[in-house]
Amino acid sequence: MSEKFKVGIVTASDKGFAGEREDLSGKEIERIVTEAGYQVVSYKVLPDDKEMLSAELVHLCDEEKVDLVLTTGGTGLSPRDNTPEATMAVATKAVPGISEAMRAYSMTVTKRAMLSRGVSVMRGTTLIINLPGSKKAVNESLTYIIDELDHAIKIMKELDGECARS
Ligand code: MTE
Repeated sequence: MSEKFKVGIVTASDKGFAGEREDLSGKEIERIVTEAGYQVVSYKVLPDDKEMLSAELVHLCDEEKVDLVLTTGGTGLSPRDNTPEATMAVATKAVPGISEAMRAYSMTVTKRAMLSRGVSVMRGTTLIINLPGSKKAVNESLTYIIDELDHAIKIMKELDGECARS
């Protein structure tokens, strides 16, 4: 990687925020992206509150100016799962293929992957990707897409002119 892109990590978890559960999935994101050459500049555990999650996403994109935000948790079907809605509320463009790819691969591991409603979007020149909320699910989902994110970010930031024909 020619440039160290900046990453913000957001864990959405009522229990994590209350200190009742250790955030293993946020730490798994940190491990994977650091190993891939990214620089983690922010890491926060927040409750599953749509407004608070949206506010943190806006802060990371508009003030911290991170290149990539990875969220974990809150993508399921329970009443307190609000991460996709918080993400869509601040999006400027949708990037559905990333979430489609993660779900397609994850379906080969567990059919329950269909239960993640996670979305991928852009806000300006920041890419935001929702991952499901367990260490295992983070590992399976993020490991599958990580190699393509460098090119995605470079295209988004106009650092790469053309897609290589591969
Ligand atoms: N994706 C992968 N790769 N592996 C998993 O084990 N678990 C699923 C799904 N996606 C899973 C997965 C399950 S059981 C649920 S309920 C949803 O993610 C939503 O999880 P979340 O609400 O913690 O975000």
